Amino acid sequence: MERELALEFVRVTEAAALAAGRFMGRGDKEAADRAAVDAMRAVFDTVNINGTVVIGEGEMDEAPMLYIGEKVGTGIEPEVDVAVDPLEGTNLVAKGLPNALAVVAVAPRGCLLHAPDIYMNKIAVGPKARGCISLDAGVTENLRNVARALGKAVRDVTAIILDRPRHAHIIEEIRRAGARVKLISDGDVSAAIATAFENSGVDILFGIGGAPEGVLAAAALKCLGGEMQARLMPNGEEEVARVLQMGFSDPGKLLELDDLVMGDDVLFAATGITDGDLLRGVRYRGQTAETHSLVMRGITGTIRNIYATHILARKPRFVARGKDCGEE
Ligand code: FBP
Repeated sequence: MERELALEFVRVTEAAALAAGRFMGRGDKEAADRAAVDAMRAVFDTVNINGTVVIGEGEMDEAPMLYIGEKVGTGIEPEVDVAVDPLEGTNLVAKGLPNALAVVAVAPRGCLLHAPDIYMNKIAVGPKARGCISLDAGVTENLRNVARALGKAVRDVTAIILDRPRHAHIIEEIRRAGARVKLISDGDVSAAIATAFENSGVDILFGIGGAPEGVLAAAALKCLGGEMQARLMPNGEEEVARVLQMGFSDPGKLLELDDLVMGDDVLFAATGITDGDLLRGVRYRGQTAETHSLVMRGITGTIRNIYATHILARKPRFVARGKDCGEE
């Protein structure tokens, strides 16, 4: 994929963030999500790709836009898989809480895992602890290995995990091992990415979250040189059937980073909607608005922080005969 495309995808996430940010704290997560989807969809049509949504807003019959299988882009080459989450953290925006993002990942056709919208068990770390984690090992063993890789004691390691009853046993074991825990109410994409940034203060992500979010996080970690392992967690026969129908011969297979995102040719873009550990949220300043985005390429490992000022509405300027009437 051409490197110029990276900036095109920032335009896509910026549009979603600018639209969703208006709903911050307004208690209406559906409206925020709708606004993000509409805005993202519109900008996608201007990007020169022949894209197919593989991670999106749901199946064709349940999502009007950005549904799985939908074609996006102008239709001009390259042929790519597209993973989107126009609003990652709908509750976060609705409540005005940190770390809501608009996210896109793109890779050549066939290179992103086509994950069903079910739960996925995940473990993720940044580049320094790559090769030191295993989803099949215990929590304490992982914490010890990560501590060793980072050159610090287990009590200095911080694990991040969604605050859910299903994670009570993991949280208890992290505490028993002596590590620190950061519990988050939502948003495990930004949590996984944070493990790869030393000054985020988090070292390892544990726990079960959405499978689509898992693929997006894996795309980011690929670019950042981190590591992630995952396993689909189908609940009941219907979900197992869906997993099999989507081409997985073994629904319980351990998925390594290369299974989630094949190869290094991947682009990842995210724009902050609410303020967070890595990205600033949208600031509206009357006629303008500011966004902060992260855009990364797997092939080069380049990480770009992009601060943009967007003109929301141009004031018409008119000149009457002999006199400049200025701005209206
Ligand atoms: P939404 O943006 O769809 O609300 O997802 C937020 C999120 O917290 C994800 O980051 C996470 O993977 C998933 O929900 C966890 O699901 P659940 O809330 O069911 O535990």
